[in-house]
Amino acid sequence: MTDERDLDGVPRVAAFKTVAAFKAHLASLPIPLDCDDAVLPPRKNPLGKPVTIYGRIVGNRFATHPMEGWDGTPDGKPTDLVLRRWTHFGVSGAKLIWGGEAVAVRHDGRANPNQLCYTKDNERALATLLSALKAAHRERCGTTDDLFAGLQLTHSGRYSRPDPDNTPRPRIAYRHPILDPRLGIVDDGPVFTDTELEGLIPDYVAAARFAAGAGYDFVDVKCCHGYLLHELLSAHTRPGPYGGSFENRTRLFREIVAAIRRDVPGLHLGVRLSSFDLVPFAHPGPNQGTRGVPIDFRPHLPWRYAFGNNPDNPLEIDLTEPIAFLRLCRDLGVTLANFTAACPYYNPHLMRPATFPPSDGYPPPEDPLIGCARLLDVAARLKRAVPEITVVGTGYTYLQEYLPHVAQAQVRLGRVDLVGLGRMLLSYPELPHHVLTGRPLDRKRICRTFSECTTAPRNHMVSGCFPLDPFYKARPEAEAVKALKKKAGR
Ligand SMILES: Cc1cc2nc3c(=O)[nH]c(=O)nc-3n(C[C@H](O)[C@H](O)[C@H](O)COP(=O)(O)O)c2cc1C
Repeated sequence: MTDERDLDGVPRVAAFKTVAAFKAHLASLPIPLDCDDAVLPPRKNPLGKPVTIYGRIVGNRFATHPMEGWDGTPDGKPTDLVLRRWTHFGVSGAKLIWGGEAVAVRHDGRANPNQLCYTKDNERALATLLSALKAAHRERCGTTDDLFAGLQLTHSGRYSRPDPDNTPRPRIAYRHPILDPRLGIVDDGPVFTDTELEGLIPDYVAAARFAAGAGYDFVDVKCCHGYLLHELLSAHTRPGPYGGSFENRTRLFREIVAAIRRDVPGLHLGVRLSSFDLVPFAHPGPNQGTRGVPIDFRPHLPWRYAFGNNPDNPLEIDLTEPIAFLRLCRDLGVTLANFTAACPYYNPHLMRPATFPPSDGYPPPEDPLIGCARLLDVAARLKRAVPEITVVGTGYTYLQEYLPHVAQAQVRLGRVDLVGLGRMLLSYPELPHHVLTGRPLDRKRICRTFSECTTAPRNHMVSGCFPLDPFYKARPEAEAVKALKKKAGR
């Protein structure tokens, strides 16, 4: 499955036969990316060093990113597929479990009709996920004393699609000139009122109370990927107490944090943050070349629809507000953050660099390694600006063979505290364990970023690694995904 040809002039990572060759290519990129020459043996490897989070010793520097599978039951309970994924998170050997996957705090906030959803009825079923993960982890690693596991809580806002008819039912923070037409939004009907936003707070608290009771160490008040709490951070044009000023745009987040603190004392909090954004991207038009391009934002300047970018030049990152947000988090005592970026629906190349786009994507606008470098660079800049925050980084899967070398360098240099892995764990869940025990990587299982884990759900199928995981390869969806790829000419 390893394809080593260039794609549109961009060399594949698998084509670099030595670290030196890989590093020579990195040196040609516009954003520097530190990479170690060799992976150190287990006892010397900084990735194996414990880290203290909220006073707890966490056993190593690997984290699992939340990865949903579009594979819950219609009423939001886990299925065997969900259980299998969480068991793999446990088997990975990573000692920080960031959220497992997005769990909607109530029905209208589900991003798809099979997303997990917190309800009283679902408590018992949702609790089994953590116990299965812990049992698998204990069997692999001997102990869960140094495991730190959270549950990711979300309302999908603009990207809500909660019902079995799979129709978008967006609930938005403000009207958006580009994204509204894409979702068929034609009036203010889907805009959350202030009272409705306040009404979400008890839902977050109820889910957090459940999480604490089920033994989760923390909940992630998710502020990323274009979902509601992320969209609110850019609600410059929204009138009233939840829009306009930085104070107003962070109000709901602060209120949720305060309510959880008040009603669920002892439960720790984390935040997964889209730490920068640009404008939406699209397929190139005639005479625009072969790569994805930013939409024409000029009629909409200043660009008031993003968090962490320059409104006068929205192709430029501006970390002023993300840094202010992290200082706010620190002052609220939320000192655990996971930095991702942007939004999987309108500019996925920024948050999960890939060789191939998903079926609703566009060809990569840049060498995906630039995407990795950008994510790692932003994480390091934010860490430097607010060092009290324990930082989990995103953007490592595309590094493939050289993931351990780059991860080790980032932790060794203090640019990040923990390295988070997403897609890699779908194809090769044991990768962290193999790195930490000094085993060579199993190259056949390295994620080559075919994006089939996204193409499948975009076409209403369950997610999984169809190209590399024999379990998913054997499922009927694998054929359907192949057919979709063929149709798209890949
Ligand atoms: C199939 C799939 C499911 C995902 N589910 C979630 C999720 O539930 N919550 C979340 O915050 N991010 C989710 N993400 C984003 C990943 O956590 C991660 O940020 C992204 O894949 C980039 O990391 P990677 O390069 O290691 O894959 C998902 C990504 C994919 C491809």
